[in-house]
Amino acid sequence: MSNLFVMEHPLIKHKVSILRNKETTVKEFRELVNEIALLMGYEATKDLTLTEVEVETPLVKTKGQVVEKQVALVPILRAGLGMVEALMSLIPAAKVGHVGLYRDHDTLQPVEYYCKLPTDIEERQVLVLDPMLATGGSSAAAIDVVKKRGAKKIKLMCIIAAPEGVKTVQDAHPDVDIYVASLDEKLNENGYILPGLGDAGDRLFGTL
Ligand code: PRP
Ligand code: URA
Repeated sequence: MSNLFVMEHPLIKHKVSILRNKETTVKEFRELVNEIALLMGYEATKDLTLTEVEVETPLVKTKGQVVEKQVALVPILRAGLGMVEALMSLIPAAKVGHVGLYRDHDTLQPVEYYCKLPTDIEERQVLVLDPMLATGGSSAAAIDVVKKRGAKKIKLMCIIAAPEGVKTVQDAHPDVDIYVASLDEKLNENGYILPGLGDAGDRLFGTL
């Protein structure tokens, strides 16, 4: 069974509370998603492997450790795009793949419309990014896609998750660890997370 990591950092809790507020503007929403992703990225990357290198300071030669190229970020379009910049600033050598999925309004099933992934994805630690884990259909489908391309080490990072979505991903992908900023109460009858924050893509891109 995969691990579920629920963030406990006070700054994350603070920012998630503002993110939920319906009065939060598109600009603020975008900034908050970026800041939360940055803080979560610190947790989700803590087991990256290090390679020893020699460093010459102005005074002496010493040994240092670096994270060599090993990460691929895979945002789920659209809303996952809001988390990319933060992770790219933490891991500048990361490659970025994109998986386009939308939820059919009636069936709530994910529909794939785009996929472009790094060719060496099977060698990389993949971080699948999506602010919302609702029924879990979209995240589980995106993980299926990267696995079909050979990815073996995969983590999922979501800001708000419903227990139903966590279970879906854990059942389908027991090898994938899940990082969430908040584990919310439940889904409503339309598949929206409660208390949630509404439609993440619309709030991020102002398409309300
Ligand atoms: C939202 C969200 C997730 C998905 C979560 O995307 O960004 O991708 O719903 O729901 P699920 O866990 O039930 O699959 P949406 O389908 O609204 O597409 P968008 O990002 O293009 O708005
Ligand atoms: N997608 C969203 O953007 N919000 C939800 O609450 C559920 C799915």
